Amino acid sequence: MTWQKEADTAARLARQAGDLLKSRFATAMQIDHKGTTDLVTEMDLASERLIRDELARAFPGDLQFGEEAGGADFRRGRVWVFDPLDGTTNFAHGLPIFSVSIALCEDGRPRAGAVHQPMTGETFTARAGGGAFRNGEPIRVSAQTDLQQALVVTGFPYVPGPVIEEMMARLRRLILATQGVRRLGSAAMDLCYVAMGRFDAFWETSLKPWDVAAGALLVEEAGGRVTDFAGSPMPIDRGQILASNGHLHTAVQALLAL
Ligand code: IPD
Ligand code: CA
Ligand code: CA
Repeated sequence: MTWQKEADTAARLARQAGDLLKSRFATAMQIDHKGTTDLVTEMDLASERLIRDELARAFPGDLQFGEEAGGADFRRGRVWVFDPLDGTTNFAHGLPIFSVSIALCEDGRPRAGAVHQPMTGETFTARAGGGAFRNGEPIRVSAQTDLQQALVVTGFPYVPGPVIEEMMARLRRLILATQGVRRLGSAAMDLCYVAMGRFDAFWETSLKPWDVAAGALLVEEAGGRVTDFAGSPMPIDRGQILASNGHLHTAVQALLAL
Protein backbone atom coordinates (compact mmCIF):
# COMPACT_ATOMS: atom_id res chain seq x y z
CA MET A 1 0.00 0.00 0.00
CA THR A 2 1.29 3.47 -0.79
CA TRP A 3 -1.66 5.30 0.85
CA GLN A 4 -1.33 7.91 -1.88
CA LYS A 5 -5.02 8.19 -2.64
CA GLU A 6 -5.86 8.43 1.07
CA ALA A 7 -3.23 11.14 1.65
CA ASP A 8 -4.37 13.10 -1.40
CA THR A 9 -7.99 12.91 -0.27
CA ALA A 10 -7.11 13.94 3.28
CA ALA A 11 -5.21 16.96 1.91
CA ARG A 12 -7.98 17.93 -0.50
CA LEU A 13 -10.67 17.77 2.18
CA ALA A 14 -8.55 19.51 4.82
CA ARG A 15 -8.08 22.36 2.32
CA GLN A 16 -11.76 22.44 1.43
CA ALA A 17 -12.81 22.51 5.09
CA GLY A 18 -10.06 25.06 5.81
CA ASP A 19 -11.37 27.37 3.06
CA LEU A 20 -14.79 27.18 4.65
CA LEU A 21 -13.35 28.11 8.07
CA LYS A 22 -11.31 30.95 6.56
CA SER A 23 -14.38 32.36 4.80
CA ARG A 24 -16.03 32.89 8.19
CA PHE A 25 -12.91 33.75 10.21
CA ALA A 26 -13.44 36.75 12.54
CA THR A 27 -17.11 37.14 11.59
CA ALA A 28 -20.05 36.92 14.00
CA MET A 29 -21.13 33.34 14.62
CA GLN A 30 -22.98 31.00 16.94
CA ILE A 31 -20.73 29.82 19.79
CA ASP A 32 -21.85 27.25 22.36
CA HIS A 33 -20.16 25.76 25.40
CA LYS A 34 -19.40 22.03 25.65
CA GLY A 35 -18.01 22.67 29.15
CA THR A 36 -17.03 25.77 31.16
CA THR A 37 -14.14 26.63 28.83
CA ASP A 38 -14.60 24.13 25.97
CA LEU A 39 -16.27 25.91 23.05
CA VAL A 40 -17.92 24.70 19.87
CA THR A 41 -18.71 27.15 17.09
CA GLU A 42 -21.14 26.68 14.23
CA MET A 43 -18.04 26.38 12.03
CA ASP A 44 -16.69 23.31 13.91
CA LEU A 45 -19.99 21.67 12.98
CA ALA A 46 -20.09 22.94 9.38
CA SER A 47 -16.51 21.81 8.79
CA GLU A 48 -17.24 18.35 10.21
CA ARG A 49 -20.35 17.98 8.00
CA LEU A 50 -18.31 18.82 4.91
CA ILE A 51 -15.58 16.31 5.80
CA ARG A 52 -18.10 13.56 6.60
CA ASP A 53 -20.04 14.02 3.36
CA GLU A 54 -16.95 14.16 1.17
CA LEU A 55 -15.25 11.18 2.85
CA ALA A 56 -18.42 9.12 2.40
CA ARG A 57 -18.35 10.03 -1.28
CA ALA A 58 -14.63 9.30 -1.78
CA PHE A 59 -14.40 6.14 0.38
CA PRO A 60 -17.93 4.77 0.83
CA GLY A 61 -16.70 1.56 2.51
CA ASP A 62 -14.67 3.29 5.24
CA LEU A 63 -15.80 4.22 8.76
CA GLN A 64 -15.52 7.65 10.36
CA PHE A 65 -14.63 9.06 13.78
CA GLY A 66 -14.81 12.85 14.15
CA GLU A 67 -14.67 15.13 17.17
CA GLU A 68 -18.15 16.60 17.03
CA ALA A 69 -20.31 13.63 15.97
CA GLY A 70 -18.14 10.74 17.20
CA GLY A 71 -18.54 7.52 15.23
CA ALA A 72 -16.80 4.20 14.83
CA ASP A 73 -14.25 2.50 17.08
CA PHE A 74 -11.09 3.76 15.40
CA ARG A 75 -9.09 0.75 16.67
CA ARG A 76 -10.67 -1.68 14.19
CA GLY A 77 -10.58 -1.62 10.41
CA ARG A 78 -10.25 1.41 8.16
CA VAL A 79 -11.44 4.48 10.03
CA TRP A 80 -11.02 8.16 9.18
CA VAL A 81 -10.14 10.10 12.33
CA PHE A 82 -10.53 13.87 12.04
CA ASP A 83 -10.70 17.18 13.88
CA PRO A 84 -12.73 19.63 11.78
CA LEU A 85 -11.26 22.64 13.62
CA ASP A 86 -8.24 22.23 15.84
CA GLY A 87 -7.80 25.49 17.72
CA THR A 88 -11.44 26.39 18.33
CA THR A 89 -10.62 28.82 21.15
CA ASN A 90 -8.22 30.73 18.88
CA PHE A 91 -10.78 30.71 16.07
CA ALA A 92 -13.54 32.00 18.37
CA HIS A 93 -11.27 34.87 19.48
CA GLY A 94 -10.23 35.82 15.95
CA LEU A 95 -6.69 34.52 16.46
CA PRO A 96 -5.43 33.14 13.12
CA ILE A 97 -3.88 29.93 14.51
CA PHE A 98 -6.04 26.89 13.81
CA SER A 99 -6.08 23.87 11.51
CA VAL A 100 -8.03 20.96 10.08
CA SER A 101 -6.64 17.49 10.74
CA ILE A 102 -7.66 14.32 8.87
CA ALA A 103 -6.09 10.84 9.07
CA LEU A 104 -6.90 7.37 7.85
CA CYS A 105 -6.23 4.74 10.51
CA GLU A 106 -6.00 1.03 9.91
CA ASP A 107 -6.59 -1.01 13.06
CA GLY A 108 -5.82 2.09 15.11
CA ARG A 109 -2.60 3.04 13.33
CA PRO A 110 -2.42 6.24 11.26
CA ARG A 111 -1.48 5.36 7.66
CA ALA A 112 -2.13 8.60 5.81
CA GLY A 113 -2.93 12.07 7.00
CA ALA A 114 -3.06 15.77 6.33
CA VAL A 115 -3.15 18.94 8.40
CA HIS A 116 -4.10 22.21 6.73
CA GLN A 117 -3.61 25.67 8.15
CA PRO A 118 -5.99 27.96 6.30
CA MET A 119 -4.43 31.27 7.37
CA THR A 120 -0.91 30.39 6.18
CA GLY A 121 -1.98 28.19 3.28
CA GLU A 122 0.26 25.37 4.48
CA THR A 123 -0.79 21.76 3.93
CA PHE A 124 1.18 19.01 5.65
CA THR A 125 0.76 15.43 4.42
CA ALA A 126 2.26 12.08 5.35
CA ARG A 127 1.98 8.46 4.24
CA ALA A 128 3.17 5.47 6.28
CA GLY A 129 6.58 4.60 4.84
CA GLY A 130 6.21 7.37 2.24
CA GLY A 131 7.58 10.46 4.00
CA ALA A 132 6.22 13.79 5.16
CA PHE A 133 5.61 16.90 3.07
CA ARG A 134 4.71 20.58 3.35
CA ASN A 135 2.91 21.85 0.27
CA GLY A 136 4.37 18.90 -1.64
CA GLU A 137 8.00 19.44 -0.55
CA PRO A 138 9.68 16.84 1.72
CA ILE A 139 10.19 17.95 5.33
CA ARG A 140 12.52 16.78 8.12
CA VAL A 141 12.63 17.33 11.86
CA SER A 142 15.32 19.69 13.20
CA ALA A 143 18.91 18.61 13.82
CA GLN A 144 19.05 20.37 17.21
CA THR A 145 20.93 18.39 19.87
CA ASP A 146 21.31 21.10 22.51
CA LEU A 147 18.23 21.44 24.73
CA GLN A 148 19.26 24.91 25.86
CA GLN A 149 18.98 26.04 22.21
CA ALA A 150 15.68 24.25 21.60
CA LEU A 151 12.29 25.86 21.04
CA VAL A 152 9.57 23.61 22.40
CA VAL A 153 5.79 23.76 22.56
CA THR A 154 3.03 22.44 24.77
CA GLY A 155 -0.70 22.71 25.37
CA PHE A 156 -3.04 22.74 28.34
CA PRO A 157 -6.25 20.76 28.80
CA TYR A 158 -9.53 22.73 28.99
CA VAL A 159 -10.08 21.64 32.57
CA PRO A 160 -6.71 20.77 34.15
CA GLY A 161 -8.32 19.91 37.53
CA PRO A 162 -5.91 18.14 39.87
CA VAL A 163 -3.24 17.73 37.15
CA ILE A 164 -2.56 21.49 37.21
CA GLU A 165 0.31 21.03 39.69
CA GLU A 166 2.01 18.36 37.55
CA MET A 167 1.47 20.51 34.47
CA MET A 168 3.08 23.53 36.10
CA ALA A 169 5.99 21.47 37.44
CA ARG A 170 6.76 20.19 33.93
CA LEU A 171 6.33 23.62 32.39
CA ARG A 172 8.68 25.16 34.94
CA ARG A 173 11.39 22.59 34.18
CA LEU A 174 11.08 23.01 30.43
CA ILE A 175 11.11 26.82 30.65
CA LEU A 176 14.36 26.66 32.59
CA ALA A 177 16.01 24.02 30.38
CA THR A 178 15.20 25.33 26.88
CA GLN A 179 15.46 28.48 24.77
CA GLY A 180 11.70 28.94 25.02
CA VAL A 181 8.30 27.31 25.45
CA ARG A 182 5.33 28.20 23.25
CA ARG A 183 1.60 27.42 23.49
CA LEU A 184 -0.08 27.82 20.09
CA GLY A 185 -3.50 26.31 20.81
CA SER A 186 -3.62 23.72 18.02
CA ALA A 187 -2.01 20.38 18.82
CA ALA A 188 -2.15 19.33 15.16
CA MET A 189 -0.14 22.42 14.22
CA ASP A 190 2.31 21.87 17.08
CA LEU A 191 3.05 18.43 15.61
CA CYS A 192 3.45 19.77 12.05
CA TYR A 193 5.93 22.32 13.35
CA VAL A 194 7.96 19.58 15.04
CA ALA A 195 7.83 17.62 11.79
CA MET A 196 9.30 20.53 9.80
CA GLY A 197 11.78 21.72 12.45
CA ARG A 198 10.17 24.97 13.61
CA PHE A 199 9.87 23.34 17.04
CA ASP A 200 12.25 20.75 18.45
CA ALA A 201 9.75 19.03 20.75
CA PHE A 202 6.09 19.02 21.82
CA TRP A 203 4.41 17.53 24.88
CA GLU A 204 0.85 17.53 26.14
CA THR A 205 -1.57 15.42 28.20
CA SER A 206 -5.31 14.77 27.75
CA LEU A 207 -5.28 14.87 23.95
CA LYS A 208 -7.78 12.93 21.86
CA PRO A 209 -7.16 10.65 18.84
CA TRP A 210 -8.38 13.34 16.41
CA ASP A 211 -5.83 15.86 17.79
CA VAL A 212 -2.82 13.65 17.11
CA ALA A 213 -3.62 11.02 14.44
CA ALA A 214 -2.31 12.96 11.43
CA GLY A 215 0.35 14.93 13.33
CA ALA A 216 1.97 11.91 14.98
CA LEU A 217 2.37 10.23 11.58
CA LEU A 218 3.84 13.46 10.21
CA VAL A 219 6.50 13.62 12.95
CA GLU A 220 7.47 9.96 12.50
CA GLU A 221 7.61 10.22 8.73
CA ALA A 222 9.76 13.35 9.05
CA GLY A 223 12.33 11.37 11.05
CA GLY A 224 11.17 12.28 14.56
CA ARG A 225 10.02 10.22 17.52
CA VAL A 226 6.58 9.98 19.13
CA THR A 227 5.99 8.25 22.47
CA ASP A 228 4.18 8.68 25.76
CA PHE A 229 6.05 10.28 28.68
CA ALA A 230 7.53 6.91 29.63
CA GLY A 231 9.07 6.54 26.18
CA SER A 232 6.70 3.77 25.09
CA PRO A 233 5.14 3.67 21.62
CA MET A 234 1.95 5.67 21.73
CA PRO A 235 -1.46 4.50 20.58
CA ILE A 236 -3.39 7.60 19.42
CA ASP A 237 -5.83 7.30 22.34
CA ARG A 238 -3.03 7.39 24.94
CA GLY A 239 -3.77 11.04 25.77
CA GLN A 240 -0.20 11.79 26.70
CA ILE A 241 2.23 12.62 23.91
CA LEU A 242 5.89 13.52 23.58
CA ALA A 243 6.98 14.24 20.01
CA SER A 244 10.49 15.38 19.20
CA ASN A 245 13.25 15.51 16.63
CA GLY A 246 14.58 12.28 18.22
CA HIS A 247 17.89 13.79 19.38
CA LEU A 248 16.28 15.57 22.33
CA HIS A 249 13.73 12.89 23.17
CA THR A 250 15.31 11.30 26.23
CA ALA A 251 16.40 14.68 27.62
CA VAL A 252 12.83 16.05 27.43
CA GLN A 253 11.44 12.75 28.68
CA ALA A 254 13.64 12.99 31.77
CA LEU A 255 12.27 16.47 32.53
CA LEU A 256 8.67 15.31 32.15
CA ALA A 257 9.13 12.52 34.70
CA LEU A 258 7.82 13.65 38.09
C1 IPD B 1 -7.47 21.68 21.40
C2 IPD B 1 -6.17 22.16 20.79
C3 IPD B 1 -5.23 22.66 21.86
C4 IPD B 1 -4.97 21.64 22.92
C5 IPD B 1 -6.28 21.15 23.52
C6 IPD B 1 -7.18 20.59 22.39
P1 IPD B 1 -9.75 21.91 19.93
O1 IPD B 1 -8.34 21.16 20.40
O2 IPD B 1 -5.53 21.13 20.08
O3 IPD B 1 -3.97 23.02 21.33
O4 IPD B 1 -4.17 22.21 23.93
O5 IPD B 1 -5.97 20.14 24.43
O6 IPD B 1 -8.38 20.13 22.95
O7 IPD B 1 -10.69 21.81 21.09
O8 IPD B 1 -9.41 23.29 19.58
O9 IPD B 1 -10.15 21.06 18.79
CA1 CA C 1 -8.51 19.40 18.76
CA1 CA D 1 -11.74 20.55 17.36
